[in-house]
Amino acid sequence: PYLERMNRFDVLEEKVKQILNLDHVIITPGDSDQDEWVKFDLGRRAYDFLKKQLKPSDTIAVTGGSSMAAVAEMMQPSTNGTNCFFVPARGGLGERVENQANTICAQMAKKMNGEYRLLYVPDPLSEETYQSIIQEPGVKEVLQMIKEADIVMHGIGDACTMAKRRKTPEHVLDKLIKGKAVSEAFGYYFDRDGRVVYKVRTVGMQLEDLSNIQTVIAVAGGKSKAEAIHSFFKQGRSNVLITDEGAAKMLIKGS
Ligand code: BG6
Repeated sequence: PYLERMNRFDVLEEKVKQILNLDHVIITPGDSDQDEWVKFDLGRRAYDFLKKQLKPSDTIAVTGGSSMAAVAEMMQPSTNGTNCFFVPARGGLGERVENQANTICAQMAKKMNGEYRLLYVPDPLSEETYQSIIQEPGVKEVLQMIKEADIVMHGIGDACTMAKRRKTPEHVLDKLIKGKAVSEAFGYYFDRDGRVVYKVRTVGMQLEDLSNIQTVIAVAGGKSKAEAIHSFFKQGRSNVLITDEGAAKMLIKGS
């Protein structure tokens, strides 16, 4: 039965890889919408993948979210990751502390005996504050590290869920509804064809920066995220997906 299961997942992974046009897809059994442990399993698989890619002194940019928090939870020191550096991909995005990129970044560094830098930025930012804050030397230094990251690890959210979680103001909600936003990642909201509908103004990684980064790993599972995952990958900026059976099966069904 173990081998049978392996084969079943090989086929599933291949299908998802083709649908989303990715280099690597890893699928873990179960559905993280239903069972909390599946999310930790996702985290473990994501960490295993990351570990294989890591070289000493690599810089890893990470986003927030409960999936990334699960990755942090499953991390351990690794010789591949000696002197690794963690930075948050984007500044504050209206998340609770435990879901913030800063928090997760510091936790990851602690688990892997690495270093970290944080982005201290208020959120949301006015255009004026944004322009002056990116000139701050402390912020500038971290922004440079983010742009030069060797690896990026991020979550993908369902647009509606994320907008609610961030207590998004009414006028922005209107934009998301009118633009038919389906997914969210890095503070960008996308429609089903992967077009940007709205972007939260904060400092850090811009979508364009991802094109220069060799390994971009998305960690997202649960049946409810299938559409969001599909939408996000339409704009083809990440090349690895760590997901679960629930999301994978729903994705295949819907395509
Ligand atoms: C957020 C990221 O913190 O987590 C988002 O900034 C992402 O880009 C979201 O969509 C995913 O959260 P979760 O809890 O579903 O993993």
